[in-house]
Amino acid sequence: MPRFNRKDQHILIGLKQKRGLADFSDIHFIHNCLPERDLNEVNLKTRLHGVDLGSPFFINALTGGTPLAGRINAALALAARECNLPMALGSQAIALENPAAVNSFRIVRKINPKGILWANLGSYATLEMARRAVEMIDAAALQIHLNVPQELAMKEGDRCFRGALERIGRIAGALSKPVVVKEVGFGIAREQALLLLEAGVAAIDVGGRGGTNFLALENRRSRRILSREILSWGIPTAISLIEVLDAVKGEAGVIAGGGMCSSYNIARALALGADAVGLAGYPLQLILRKGPRALIRAIGKLEEELRLLMLMTGSSSLPELRRVPLVITGFTREWMESRQIKLPESR
Ligand SMILES: Cc1cc2nc3c(=O)[nH]c(=O)nc-3n(C[C@H](O)[C@H](O)[C@H](O)COP(=O)(O)O)c2cc1C
Repeated sequence: MPRFNRKDQHILIGLKQKRGLADFSDIHFIHNCLPERDLNEVNLKTRLHGVDLGSPFFINALTGGTPLAGRINAALALAARECNLPMALGSQAIALENPAAVNSFRIVRKINPKGILWANLGSYATLEMARRAVEMIDAAALQIHLNVPQELAMKEGDRCFRGALERIGRIAGALSKPVVVKEVGFGIAREQALLLLEAGVAAIDVGGRGGTNFLALENRRSRRILSREILSWGIPTAISLIEVLDAVKGEAGVIAGGGMCSSYNIARALALGADAVGLAGYPLQLILRKGPRALIRAIGKLEEELRLLMLMTGSSSLPELRRVPLVITGFTREWMESRQIKLPESR
C-alpha cells in the first residue's frame, strides 16, 4: 500500500481508538505538608539535547505527507508556537521519495519560524537521508523511530531488521545535530538502551506501552491477522522508563513517551528521572476533535497541575522533584526486583 493512504488511515483509525493512558499507578508520591515553597516560584525548566526548555512537554512525531496530514501539522504547529513547545514531525521518508509531499512538513516551519522542530525517520535511514530530513525543516535534532512490531503487523511492512544499530551509530557519529532514538509504543529495555548509548545517541524516548497501540491499529487496518493476546505486547511506559534510566545513568537524555496525557503521570515520570515528556495521540485527538485552541488550553492545564503537584511534594524545580522520595509497589516493584534494578537515591 502506498505510504500516502497508510498515513491517513493511521490518523483516522487512531482517532477511533479509545485513548490509552500510561499506567503509573505503582509509583506513589509522599505528601509534603511543609513544602516551604511559593507556587509562583515553581518552574518547569528542563534541558534536552543541550537546549534549555521552559517546560518538559513536547508534541511528539505524528504525521506529514498528505493534504490531511499537512492540515494537522499546521494546527499542531500553531499550538506548539503558542505554548512555546518543541514539536517533532512525522516520518519524512514520504517527502524524501516524493517532493510533492514536502510542503506538508515545511508548513510547520512557516507557521513557527523560530520554534524548535525535530526531524523524523525510521531506522532504515542513511546519513544522506538524515541530512536531507534535517535540512527540510531546519531541525534542531533528528528522531529515529523503532517500530518492529508495527512493521510485522503490516501486510506490506518490513521483515528484515538487520543493520539498524549500525546505521544509527553512523548517523549519530556524523550528523551535526543530536540524534534521539524513540519507540512508538512498545518500550525500550535496558539491554537495547545500553547499545543505543554506545552507538552515541543523545537521548532515548522510551515510547512505552499504554497509549497509542500500533499493533491494534495495524490489525484493524489489515482486518485482524494477529490474535488478541499479542495486541498487548510491549513494555509499559513507566517500566521502560525505569529500565532506560537504569541503563543511561545520566549519560544521555531520557524522554517519557507512550500514553502520557495526565499531569499526575507526567509528574511521576519526571520524578522518576525523565528529562522531558512526549505527547502524541493526546494532541492529535484534541486537534482533530476540537482544534488547536483546545490543545493550547489542555497544555496550559497540564502545566498548571504539574506546578501544583510539584509544590505538594516540596519541589520548586524538576531537579528538586527528582530528589523527592517515591514508593514503588505492585507489578512495577516485582519487575524491578526480577531485573535487579534499584531506583538511585539522586536521580
Ligand atoms: C497517527 C500517528 C502517527 C504516528 N507517526 C509517527 C511517525 O511517523 N514517526 C514516529 O516516530 N512516531 C510516530 N508516531 C508515534 C508517536 O510519536 C508516539 O511515539 C506513540 O504514538 C506513543 O505515544 P502516544 O501514546 O502519546 O501516542 C505516530 C503516532 C500516531 C498516533
